[in-house]
Amino acid sequence: MKEKSFVMLKPDAVLRRLTGKILTRFEERGLELVAAKMMVITPELAKKHYDEHREKPFFGELVEYITSGPVLATVIKGEECINLIRKMVGTTNPKEADIGTLRGDYAIDTGRNIIHASDSPVSAEREIALFFDDAEICNCTFPGRELIYEEP
Ligand code: RTP
Ligand code: MG
Repeated sequence: MKEKSFVMLKPDAVLRRLTGKILTRFEERGLELVAAKMMVITPELAKKHYDEHREKPFFGELVEYITSGPVLATVIKGEECINLIRKMVGTTNPKEADIGTLRGDYAIDTGRNIIHASDSPVSAEREIALFFDDAEICNCTFPGRELIYEEP
């Protein structure tokens, strides 16, 4: 089933000039970039986005990190892409992330782990609505889907 995931390149990824490399990984896999927005997110939006972690000891640092510079907020589409993208991103602690994952290749610290990706369909829907209006999400058909999917 085609799904949409909310994927956010965190300030460290943007400032380390990794946006092109990271988006290329998703595009080369066959996934479709259907929305993208560069923005500096407010503490209010950051707190809403990471609401599930509100009571965690690292919450303050997390909000500080995520609001410390520009992020690239995106929506990425593809078959079962929520799980697929989480696998491509790697574990939360980059030191434990497999080589070949984004965090395993480009990050070292949990507090500088370069990228966020939705962890379930419910989170994806909530996060996409938090960052994008419907009109900002491209509804186009990408050509060559039959080269990626047996049943496009
Ligand atoms: P994300 O939500 O950013 O995609 O990351 P995740 O699912 O892999 O990890 P999650 O448990 O949701 O944590 C959200 C972000 O909080 C920071 N964190 N710091 N110091 C700590 O123990 C700690 N744990 C988590 C990380 O930036 C993590 O990505
Ligand atoms: Mg998470």
